[in-house]
This record gives sequence, structure tokens and C-alpha cells, in this order.
Amino acid sequence: MTEDSLDGGAPGFRARSGWTRAQASGIERTDETVAPVFYPPENDQIPHVHIWDTWFLRERDGTLAEVEGYRVCFSLTAPADLLPGKRHDVATIRCFYSADGRNWHDAGPVFEEALGQRQWAGSALYDDGSVYVFYTAAGQDDAEELTYAQRIVGAGGGTIDADGGFALRGPWTHHELLSPDGERYEREDQSRGMIYTFRDPWFFEDPETGETWLLFEANSPVPEGSDACDGDVAQQEFNGSVGVARSPTGDPLEWELDDPLLDAVGTNQELERPHVVYRDGRYYLFVSSHLHTFAPGLEGFDALYGFVAEDFRGEYVPLNGSGLVVTNPENAPFQSYSWMAFAHGDEVLVQSFFNYFDFAGPVLDDIAHLSEAEQMRRFGGTLAPTLRLDVDGTRTRIIGKLGHWEIPMAGESLPPTEAELIRRA
Ligand code: FRU
Repeated sequence: MTEDSLDGGAPGFRARSGWTRAQASGIERTDETVAPVFYPPENDQIPHVHIWDTWFLRERDGTLAEVEGYRVCFSLTAPADLLPGKRHDVATIRCFYSADGRNWHDAGPVFEEALGQRQWAGSALYDDGSVYVFYTAAGQDDAEELTYAQRIVGAGGGTIDADGGFALRGPWTHHELLSPDGERYEREDQSRGMIYTFRDPWFFEDPETGETWLLFEANSPVPEGSDACDGDVAQQEFNGSVGVARSPTGDPLEWELDDPLLDAVGTNQELERPHVVYRDGRYYLFVSSHLHTFAPGLEGFDALYGFVAEDFRGEYVPLNGSGLVVTNPENAPFQSYSWMAFAHGDEVLVQSFFNYFDFAGPVLDDIAHLSEAEQMRRFGGTLAPTLRLDVDGTRTRIIGKLGHWEIPMAGESLPPTEAELIRRA
């Protein structure tokens, strides 16, 4: 698709990189991309809440932060007795901490008050002794009904107090950082398909240039009458993009919208929780996406997809040809979601949440037809086992897994993989 073909005469922006239908039509399960089947953990460490999207407190350079001997994560949470499908409507960000990367403890809800009706995913930065939490304010603050408006917010002012236990304290100040401009990023009133997206902020400092970026999930406006996707309106409605804003000064609370990094017009509507892992001089861009958000005529999975470029703003090409990096087994297609990759020595580790297990239905909506007891029984609502990935240029390969909630710090050695053990025997 060329620039001309997208805008159909109206103003329009094209990301330099695109995830094309031709590339996505190559998506298929392979030995390298299918995760092993997971089982529920023997004991749920945090039984009182359901946990899904999760992110770690990180330093400006992306490494996991260790503060006073603790590693720290943030998760979207909902009461454990709530039906899983309802969790997005009440999502609250909680903080968890661990001294060993295996046993985690609940430090409670992060904010007493936050913007939006509920909070969706984000990222967290530890900078000069201060904690910043970036999140999505979902819903209009004072509306009576639940709404789906989305804004990107940064909360500053957090500190960690680890004298005699762990506490994350405010007072927090919440700053509305970004909302869609309607030109590069679709506003709610422009959306012609599924619900628009403008969410999931993720902090990234470019190690080569020192520039500071905030990535987010968005959609590219495709005006009516546009000849994008050869004018096929049904395909145009699937217009996911990876948005990005730049902080001219490096200040984590000051951002200016920039052109999208990548879009998937005609291919997929939701490029969720975009994030970048820098390794071997390359930029690996990862997103999560769903089976049901691929445009008509394409078949994908609930999966982690990835792209690689030589520069942060360079031309991204899909990993493994199609973009598929990690998916669920065919007989458990919804067992994990919302993957987050991070560098660990020679490997890349991938954390996600344990979603629906013992469930092989064709579409996620089928879950609503199960009895409430069955929906509850089949929902993991906790962190999944961490996956180990070998990344080599444009190819990736799952090489093993760690335990549920197992999050090693850089420098902590990993056990040999199964393949290594077989080779040694
Ligand atoms: C992914 C996601 C995020 C969003 C959150 C809402 O699992 O859809 O994009 O922030 O869940 O619960």
C-alpha cells in the first residue's frame, strides 16, 4: 500500500512500516512459536484478585529495577469472585513486590484516586528515586454509564519505602499526557469498526540516540471513501497501529505526538501493549493481538507478534516472516495473553497472564455461553509461566519456560533448557 492509496484525498498519515495482509497470511503454528500447555499453578500466590495485564518497574534503560532488594510489578486486577469477562469494567492497578522473583506479595492498589472510570494497561519507570506509572484512563470521569473513551495518563510522585516492609507511596499527581489528534491517531467519533484504541503507554529510551519515547496502541484514521485496501470497507475497519510520542526534554510527564511506528490497516484492528526490546543493535517491536481482531480473509491467533528494525524509527519487518512469535497450543488457544518481552542475557524472556485454560472453543465469545461456574473454573487470572526465547536476527524460537510468576533479574543465571540437558546426557 502506498501513501496515496491510504488517504483517498483526505489528510492521512502512513507509518513508514506496515504489517501487510500478505505477511499476515503466512501466520501458522510451528514448533518454534507454540508455547507448551500450561496448568494452573499449584498454589495461587495472590488468590483474592484476578490478575491480567502486568508490567515491571524498569529503569530508564529498560532493565528491571531492583529497589532496596525488591523487584516490583504492576497489574490490572479485579476481585476474584467477579466473572472474568467483567474485569475490564472495574480494572484497578495494584502493585506487587518480590525479594526473589518467585514469591510475590500484594502491596495493594496503587492509587486512591485516578483519572477515568477504571484504569487499563501501562508501564512504570523508576527514575532518580521516583516512581512514575503510565496508564490508560478508560471511560469519562463523570459519566454515569460505562464509556470507552481512552486517554493516556502519567502519574508522578511515587516513592518506595522499604524500611520494615515494602510500601509504594504517593502523593501522586495525575497528568493527562495524550489523547488522539484525529489525524495520525483515530478519535472515538471517527471509528467505523470495533471500538477504537488509544491506550497501553510504554516508556522507552533509545540507547543509541538517548531520545525518550512513549509507545501506545492506537488506530490509523481511514476516512470514508478512502481507497486503502482497494476500497474494501470491511477491511478498512481493521486499522490498528503502534503510536508513539516523544519527550523533547526526556521529562517523563511531557510528550508530543509523533507519526505512528507501524500500522496494520486492512490486517488487524488491535496491536496491543506495544513495546521494544533492544538487542544486538536492533529494535524488536512486540505487540499482542487476538484471533478475532484480524481483518476478514485473514486467520491469526491470540498471540505475541513481533517486528525488527535497524533504527527505532526504521522500517520494521515481521519476525519469522509473518510476525508470529509466541502463540498458544491449538488445543488451548486462549491459555495466555498480553505478553511482555524483556532482555535477559543472551535470551529474551516473555511474561504473560494465564487466561482461559481447558478451553478450546473456536471464538472467545463462546465463553459467555458457559455457565458462570464454568467461566470461573476456566479462568487463570494469575501470571503464566515465563517463556524463554532465542532471538537471532529475524527469527525467534521458544526454547523453554520458567515457573508461574518467575521473573529473574539481569545477571541471575537460568537453569539449562531441556535441549541443553539432552545434549549433555
Ligand atoms: C489487553 C488489554 C489492554 C487493555 C486492557 C484492558 O489485555 O486489552 O489493551 O489496556 O486489556 O483490560
